[in-house]
Amino acid sequence: MSTPLRLGIAGLGTVGAGVVKIIQQRANLLAQRTGRPVVISAVSARSRDKDRGVDLSGFAWEDDPVALATRDDVDVFVELMGGSDGPAKAATEAALAAGKDVVTANKAMLAHHGQAIAEQAEAAGCVVRFEAAVAGGIPVVKALTEGLAGNQITRVMGVMNGTCNYILTRMENAGLPYDEVFEEARALGYLEADPNLDVGGIDAGHKLSLLSAIAFGAQVDFDGVELEGIGQITIEDIRQAADMGFRIKLLGVAQLTGRGLEQRMTPCLVPALSPLGQLEGGTNMVVLEGDSVGQIVLRGAGAGEGPTASAVMSDVLDIARGIRVTTFGQPAATLDRIKPARATAAAPYYLRMALVDKPGAMAKVAKVLGDSGISIDRMRQYGHDEPTAPVLFVTHKTTRDALDHAITGLAETGVVVGDPVALRIEAL
Ligand code: NAP
Ligand code: HSE
Repeated sequence: MSTPLRLGIAGLGTVGAGVVKIIQQRANLLAQRTGRPVVISAVSARSRDKDRGVDLSGFAWEDDPVALATRDDVDVFVELMGGSDGPAKAATEAALAAGKDVVTANKAMLAHHGQAIAEQAEAAGCVVRFEAAVAGGIPVVKALTEGLAGNQITRVMGVMNGTCNYILTRMENAGLPYDEVFEEARALGYLEADPNLDVGGIDAGHKLSLLSAIAFGAQVDFDGVELEGIGQITIEDIRQAADMGFRIKLLGVAQLTGRGLEQRMTPCLVPALSPLGQLEGGTNMVVLEGDSVGQIVLRGAGAGEGPTASAVMSDVLDIARGIRVTTFGQPAATLDRIKPARATAAAPYYLRMALVDKPGAMAKVAKVLGDSGISIDRMRQYGHDEPTAPVLFVTHKTTRDALDHAITGLAETGVVVGDPVALRIEAL
């Protein structure tokens, strides 16, 4: 058998401990599959004394992840600490400077620094792989980079944040308000340390920007992602959507248009019976569309110890087998800087607002919509909530620009209380 592949693992939390377990429990299987042993030389975390449910006694310990990344007995630096900057970025750069390959689960770091890291890796003759960074255990990076490499990718869509999908489906199934389910998700340990990364759509936006880079040969552009979180969705929105045959999902859509790269991660109404509509709990789903292959749907656990460690191991085993794919599926220097484009394709919208309950209020709203070129498909006023009346419109197809124009106009009527909620209805 050939020489072992030696890992240095920084971060021994949920994912790191999961990776150590797989390597310890399946050493023979991994060696059989790759033709060489996969071993851990050294590990690093903040606290040396924490019980992590794994035996670390056979590994060298480094307090400093940069020192770990540059050790002579490390071939691959496995970065599982997280954070867009700080120690994760410093240690990744140090590893590449020392000629080590890198495997990471860190979508935040790559969404912000992916292009520079890819360029550094290629200049050093190293690879950076990140299967675990997008949709946990689903092998979507490999599917796009390798399995679909012969296709022109036309669209990437998906539900890529399990926490948001848990919150939205739990609200619907248990009839609970957002705040209560948010606290439940916190108690279950689903939320990131900064919950806004989840519910603000940022984590899912990071993931979408990484898939877009591979799909469209573009430099990662997280700033170009149109982002909206789920914090404004009420149980009433979920009930009204369900009543019309829809479910609300935090949906990512990326496509290349003649105007530029469209990337949006926003709550949308999707048909309840569509594959995305039926997605429950913390599960993720990614839909890939290619000109030759048609549509591919990938579904699975988007987070958690086992699924995420499984994805990390896929990258480690590729390196052990000598499979060396560029970070975003083509040389970094050939990735285009594509200008971001706002979605202009017209779609029906769900528009909910609270009106002052007095004569003429509805007429003012109807006038603003008409003046913005928006035609009403359905309208419903439900359950008066003194002193306001909740009102819901479903529009005929319109553009986001027209809708924004209307929302500005609505604020000036003096009869709309608070901000209206506007959700795109995706036909899928
Ligand atoms: P975690 O449970 O919070 O673990 C983070 C680990 O990093 C901890 O062991 C921590 O040490 C260590 N660490 C933090 N700062 C450090 C430093 N300065 N020096 C050395 N070690 C340091 O996080 P996680 O959930 O495993 O996530 C790790 C990465 O995977 C993140 O990039 C995350 O976004 C990504 N990811 C996670 C999941 C998931 O389901 N959890 C899914 C996909 C991707 P201590 O234990 O001593 O505090
Ligand atoms: N916070 C993320 C989620 C973890 O809920 O999907 C996996 O990236």
